Amino acid sequence: MPFVPAVEIEVPDDERRQVLAEVDRLLRAGKFSQGANVEAFEEEFAAFTRAPHAVAVANGTTALELILCALDVRGREVVVPAGTNFATYIAAERAGATVRLADVDPATMAPTVEQVRAACTPRTAAVTVVHTGGLISAETEAVAAWCERRGIALVEDCAHAHGSERDGRHAGTFGVAGAFSFFATKVMTTGEGGMVITGDPRLAEEIRLLRNLGKPEAWVSRHTRPGWNARLPEFAAVLGRAQLARLPRALAARREVVAGYADALRGLPVGDFLVADHPCSGYKAMLLLPSGTDRDALKAALRVRGVQAAGEVYATPLHHQPWLTERHRDLSLPGTERGCAGQLCLPIYPGLGEKRLTHVVRALSESLAEVGTT
Ligand SMILES: Cc1ncc(COP(=O)(O)O)c(C=O)c1O
Repeated sequence: MPFVPAVEIEVPDDERRQVLAEVDRLLRAGKFSQGANVEAFEEEFAAFTRAPHAVAVANGTTALELILCALDVRGREVVVPAGTNFATYIAAERAGATVRLADVDPATMAPTVEQVRAACTPRTAAVTVVHTGGLISAETEAVAAWCERRGIALVEDCAHAHGSERDGRHAGTFGVAGAFSFFATKVMTTGEGGMVITGDPRLAEEIRLLRNLGKPEAWVSRHTRPGWNARLPEFAAVLGRAQLARLPRALAARREVVAGYADALRGLPVGDFLVADHPCSGYKAMLLLPSGTDRDALKAALRVRGVQAAGEVYATPLHHQPWLTERHRDLSLPGTERGCAGQLCLPIYPGLGEKRLTHVVRALSESLAEVGTT
């Protein structure tokens, strides 16, 4: 079996033609920033997520940072789950907050209410939860309610969760705001890009101001805030609109792959396959391996069989990142340690067919048997 890359970004012909036609129109019109495409992309994304407001920004990290700045967390604390992307942490730090790390449940990679409570102090201004791999934890609503009762803002990092819904609510609508990434590996992409969704019109307005150097009027050089240039280019919005239009098809295809894995893995001694009990983006197909599995050896054994596992979400907890070890030296976060050390992400992309899936599952069983556990 030939080597197959873990992430395949395929743009079907109909989408490619549509994007090229729109780019041609844009080139002729000559308005490359803050134009009709960004505005339409925001409206369409708000409609897709059923959020009252959507604000397009330069990337997912900035989306988080602008939300937290607009919430004015400077000088206070933000709680971040320890098993996530560095971006979630650094956005809070750049917004001027001190970060406190919460442990997570390895079965969801999200903090439970209890884990959030344990990380909060009277100085906590906001809690960020991450819908890892697209999973919206069953505790999300309870976490939102707990935060609301204490006047703490819940911010959702939805970088993995385009199309993920629980109880009829899209990711990003449980707390005060949700931050999406359209980075090149996500289930929909603009190459680089991001989006904030929120139900709060004042927060949306503040983020619009902040993304455009603090200017209330887009093209008038009058600045009322120390804002950023965090604008999304029109070209990116063209691609984003086309990707969003095709997203339902991409989601259906990913969900089919996840369901296929769930069926094929049932009863096999490969650990726990983390299947969502709600419509999910299918960004990652996450397996929590049996304790004591040497993941590196397993991945090498898989490669020998022509299977490249996807990147973990995430192999290194935040408190073990070189930039952060010193300040979080004494933390004990057993759920995070187990989740980060034990996770394997199986290949997933919309066109992954039954034959390939069967091969991956067979390769996994054989590789696990070969490497064993310690
Ligand atoms: C969980 C999480 N949060 C935030 C980000 C940051 O998004 P971006 O790369 O668009 O800045 C990522 C990106 O990969 C992510 O996975």
